[in-house]
Amino acid sequence: MLRPQLPAAERLLPHLRKIDATRVYSNFGPLALEFGARLAHHFGLPETGVVVASSGTAALIGAILATAGRASPEKPLAVVPAFTFIATASAAEACGYRLRFVDVDREDFELDPKRLLAEHDLDGVGLVIPVGAFGQAVDQAAWKKFRDKTGIAVVVDGAACFEVVTSSPSHTLGEISLALSFHATKSFGVGEGGCALTRDVNLAMRMARAINFGFFGSRDCQSANINGKLSEYHAAVGLAELDGWAEKSHALLSVAEGYRSALKGTSLLERFLAAPQVASCYALIRCETATDAQRLERALAGNGIGFRRWYGAGLHLHSYHAGLEREALPVTSVAQISGKRLRFRLLDHGGAFRIASQKHPIVGDDVAFPTKLLITFHGHEISLSSNRRMWANGVK
Ligand SMILES: Cc1ncc(COP(=O)(O)O)c(C=O)c1O
Repeated sequence: MLRPQLPAAERLLPHLRKIDATRVYSNFGPLALEFGARLAHHFGLPETGVVVASSGTAALIGAILATAGRASPEKPLAVVPAFTFIATASAAEACGYRLRFVDVDREDFELDPKRLLAEHDLDGVGLVIPVGAFGQAVDQAAWKKFRDKTGIAVVVDGAACFEVVTSSPSHTLGEISLALSFHATKSFGVGEGGCALTRDVNLAMRMARAINFGFFGSRDCQSANINGKLSEYHAAVGLAELDGWAEKSHALLSVAEGYRSALKGTSLLERFLAAPQVASCYALIRCETATDAQRLERALAGNGIGFRRWYGAGLHLHSYHAGLEREALPVTSVAQISGKRLRFRLLDHGGAFRIASQKHPIVGDDVAFPTKLLITFHGHEISLSSNRRMWANGVK
């Protein structure tokens, strides 16, 4: 897990001073507008194609309300992948939808529009939310085809997709809206924030209205809504984060490269997933079975190394969602893929990299690793030394 590092106070100051001068603190003030316009330029969208919001969840809710509206008796269902962060389901539920969990593809952990069309009864479905798992791309053209064929509204949860949208805007952006999260743990962060992106400027207007009490150009509430506006203070962090993005992005990519060279010569390398395959805030190990995953978890835990099964074993296992409608979930279920994904704690540390050790807390700037740390996984021993270098031994 990335240890967040957002812009330091000095970098925020010039932007914060503008807030002092204008005394505008929210309601799409000058900083929020500037942030939206700079993001639009960054992604090659029309200036109004970016709607900044108070969180990724708020952006998702705004996009759902503007695209599908609230659930209706005829269309009460939202199809959501079981393998995602809980916010995907929370957003659909907040708009009144009853959730139906479906499984993800074995290769990329995402919903497959063709399989959905071929194998599912879509009666009563008013909304589908494909998720860019771990910040991978969601194919805009494939989902537009699905939408056009079925008439079902589609909203993409691309919470962690900042980087892939930056590198592949034509593949990921279009008429269907995509919500990004700027939560501190994402590669590009402001603390709490997000935005919804689309090439459809009318949809963008409806999204802006949906996160502003249904107001647009007047104080008349014209649509289903929430208060999901981004404050000027968070916009200031966003502007400073954009100022330093090239540098931060480069540092994060070099952390992924650091892990890769450390794992060279071990079987872990081919199971390792990091930037640019996924967002640079993730460092993942893909295990082949649940037993593999448990073995790796034990090795990491035994060495005091933090890790997390990032999307857990599926949304259907959360207490609140137990008993909800779902198809069989062989890929998501623990026996298969979700039990296969572990996420190291990954700390960006002034350009160097290190793995957090809970047993041996890292004190001071120049201690990168505990004195010695060994992980054994499938007969491979990974040794982490205290001299800021990490390497992997061959077969034991
Ligand atoms: C897949 C996914 N969807 C939605 C969200 C919600 O974003 P936020 O925390 O900014 O509301 C997150 C991240 O937290 C996420 O990972």
